[in-house]
Amino acid sequence: MGLSFLKADHKPVLIAHRGASAYAPENTLSAFKLALDMGARYIELDVHQSRDGKVVVTHDANLKKLAKFKKKVHEMDHDEITKHSVGAWFDKRFTSEKMPTLEEALTLISRRAVVGVDIKGRYGEYPGIEEKILEILEKRGYNGMSYISTDSIERLRFIRQQAPTVALGYLFDGKDLKETIRIMRDLHCEALVVPVSAVNKTLIHKAHQRSLHVCVYTVNNKKSWEELAAQRVDAMFTDYPDLLGMPEYEQPTLGLTNED
Ligand code: G3P
Repeated sequence: MGLSFLKADHKPVLIAHRGASAYAPENTLSAFKLALDMGARYIELDVHQSRDGKVVVTHDANLKKLAKFKKKVHEMDHDEITKHSVGAWFDKRFTSEKMPTLEEALTLISRRAVVGVDIKGRYGEYPGIEEKILEILEKRGYNGMSYISTDSIERLRFIRQQAPTVALGYLFDGKDLKETIRIMRDLHCEALVVPVSAVNKTLIHKAHQRSLHVCVYTVNNKKSWEELAAQRVDAMFTDYPDLLGMPEYEQPTLGLTNED
């Protein structure tokens, strides 16, 4: 199935980074709902694994930033994690926000957006997480409507063995481009996910030559968006899903003007 959705319209795809994370606490159900309300059709989220083996949606390995709590996600059962608010740090309106499981996030999104699952943690740190993610994506009907990304080539290799057709992205720091592209082609990995600081014309050109998409993070202003769009990047992650306006909510003018 692959990432054919990235080719739509020859314009870069907008991916809501951790949901609408400029307006709601990142990686929460509120952030995902808001991203959908803003018209986002691509949502990125991050996952770790709790002590009792639940795939949970959060960027950091510990709860320090989100809950001012020092413990790591893998040292806590999911029940224990959900005793903490992961929204109050952002704004007290979000105090009731709890860390969602991947299943809860996918249920909320309800196939209204393509979902990118970025697996955090070292490869091997979370036994079975890759198989669980694949199973959850399949069970919730996200095959062909999702991709998995990670910064570990070993993890990509493992996932590819488990799932020959799942779309894969590699979080790439821009070093050793030639060898990286060779490995990506070998693994049938479809996208390089690159920080703004590492993207350049050569990278884009060489990746495209080998049919690899280039997805750039994090692009939070329109000027950068336009510059990167002109360089033909395929997708951009943004904390502002409304960066380009909210086309679905614009009223059609029906061609009428004030003079009519
Ligand atoms: O998944 C792409 C991008 O979100 C990776 O950066 O820091 O948000 O995990 P980060």
